[in-house]
Amino acid sequence: MALQMPPLHILCVLLVVAASSGTAAARRHVPPEAGPAGEQSNYLAPTCREHTASLTDFGGVGDGTTSNTAAFQKAVAHLSQYSGEGGGGSMLYVPAGKWLTAPFNLTSHFTLFLHADAVILASQDITQWPVIDPLPSYGRGRDHAGGRYTSLIAGSNLTDVVITGNNGTIDGQGATWWSKYKSGKLKYTRGYLIELMHSDTIFISNVTLLNSPAWNIHPVYSRNIVIQGVTILAPTKSPNTDGINPDSCSQVRIEDCYVVSGDDCVAIKSGWDEYGIAVGMPSEHIVVRRLTCVSPTSAVIALGSEMSGGISDVRAEDITAVGTESAVRIKTAVGRGAYVRDVYARRMTLLGMKRVFWMTGDYKSHPDDKYDPTAVPVVENISYQDVVATGVWKEAARMEGIQGAPFKGICMANVTAEMTKARKVSWNCADVEGVSADVTPAPCAPLQGAHGGACPFPTDTLAIDEVTVQRCSYTLPRAPAAAVPGTN
Ligand SMILES: *[C@@H]1O[C@H](CO)[C@@H](O)[C@H](O)[C@H]1NC(C)=O
Ligand SMILES: *[C@@H]1O[C@H](CO)[C@@H](O)[C@H](O)[C@H]1NC(C)=O
Ligand SMILES: *[C@@H]1O[C@H](CO)[C@@H](O)[C@H](O)[C@H]1NC(C)=O
Ligand SMILES: *[C@@H]1O[C@H](CO)[C@@H](O)[C@H](O)[C@H]1NC(C)=O
Ligand SMILES: *[C@@H]1O[C@H](CO)[C@@H](O)[C@H](O)[C@H]1NC(C)=O
Ligand SMILES: *[C@@H]1O[C@H](CO)[C@@H](O)[C@H](O)[C@H]1NC(C)=O
Repeated sequence: MALQMPPLHILCVLLVVAASSGTAAARRHVPPEAGPAGEQSNYLAPTCREHTASLTDFGGVGDGTTSNTAAFQKAVAHLSQYSGEGGGGSMLYVPAGKWLTAPFNLTSHFTLFLHADAVILASQDITQWPVIDPLPSYGRGRDHAGGRYTSLIAGSNLTDVVITGNNGTIDGQGATWWSKYKSGKLKYTRGYLIELMHSDTIFISNVTLLNSPAWNIHPVYSRNIVIQGVTILAPTKSPNTDGINPDSCSQVRIEDCYVVSGDDCVAIKSGWDEYGIAVGMPSEHIVVRRLTCVSPTSAVIALGSEMSGGISDVRAEDITAVGTESAVRIKTAVGRGAYVRDVYARRMTLLGMKRVFWMTGDYKSHPDDKYDPTAVPVVENISYQDVVATGVWKEAARMEGIQGAPFKGICMANVTAEMTKARKVSWNCADVEGVSADVTPAPCAPLQGAHGGACPFPTDTLAIDEVTVQRCSYTLPRAPAAAVPGTN
């Protein structure tokens, strides 16, 4: 499957057009009956929508116990009439309240908006979670062979999807899932909080995600994605509650996010062994900036371990981690094939790390035993610059490449790892090659190649950096409860 990027100038033109017409459209459609009692919400998004409806218009009840699955599904089905190009798009407003629901799908040219005191509560009744096919690039579910539970908020083959709000909450109520997973009581792989597949132009901002059954945000086979100002919280011992996992995605911008989790805060992936190789869709052109991460058992940003479509051009900057296991970690294995290359990290402030650098060439997880032992991944051109780590308690680095296929082109400059106590060996290296300057404590010999004191970091701007937002404002109409609005 080839990654089909739209010509970038078209994307930019669309965004400019949206920027110039959206605000006016939103204002025009403030319903005249919305008087002072109408609740006013402001938010920033690339596009404002022309048509809006509230979940309560579809029979939603925000009491925390009534199921809203039918209300969400009816609302999206109703609003999907505006999902065509030129339909003005639509917004579903989720008011203050606790809205229990089973999984539902989104539509195109659509905004899911959460009031500051709105909580979407995921149903803990597992029979309400449909089972879907595994991802083709994984060949099976990650927890179990076979299918997987769908995600709470899902979408496939969509264009222009926004999930935002005044920092409302989506609560996965994952504890049930975690304990069933740990005691081997699940037949299928756990679902995620948000999964958008085969989609283009995704914007997720200003929401808080709590206690996902597993990963939180999973864009897959998608492109042109901005994730901004999202707070993700899960207990640090919860299994596989990764924060944001772009998977076979291109043009991704993750910024100003705060993640506390039991697994990687961000994990960039692209498929698993022979299945990922067959699909062949890379993750590339990804920027992560101003991320704060707390993950005692995992990485701030992991690359892999599933990377069989390839990972390249990843730019991470202004990263803060507290009490985290490692920083920008590479995980791969023989059988994965493909590559991880052109990864750039700079300006990282790391407090209380187990280790600062970690690369692993024999990550032991495979979908099955049919992987190709000659599919040896290539890891090269990985740069780290301006890193200050304090309270490093285990080792500065564990860098283990692949015998006969060393990880090459590793560059480090201006790195300080202050250990909690002096270690005889603070760098553990095998099958890696690279250069370094101003690195304390002194790196292992294979990384002591000399260089000019700076590591590369791209100076060009990614297309996804050009996406801008505008102020949208929405006044809640006082629509008659339980009546489905007409088509205007
Ligand atoms: C959501 O969409 C998928 C296809 O993308 C479909 O299989 C599934 O049945 C839909 N779920 C619901 C609840 O409509
Ligand atoms: C969604 O897009 C993928 C990739 O282009 C395609 O293979 C699939 O058939 C599409 N699904 C639907 C339901 O249109
Ligand atoms: C995010 O939500 C907060 C809290 O309601 C609000 O003050 C702020 O304006 C929102 N930010 C954006 C970018 O929408
Ligand atoms: C959103 O809510 C979370 C959880 O209460 C809070 O930590 C975060 O600072 C809030 N973000 C914004 C932008 O208000
Ligand atoms: C690695 O970086 C060097 C120096 O910038 C460049 O010449 C080389 O082409 C890069 N390798 C790859 C595979 O991009
Ligand atoms: C080294 O990195 C630190 C932390 O980012 C920065 O403050 C300092 O200016 C850098 N030093 C040089 C020589 O670039």
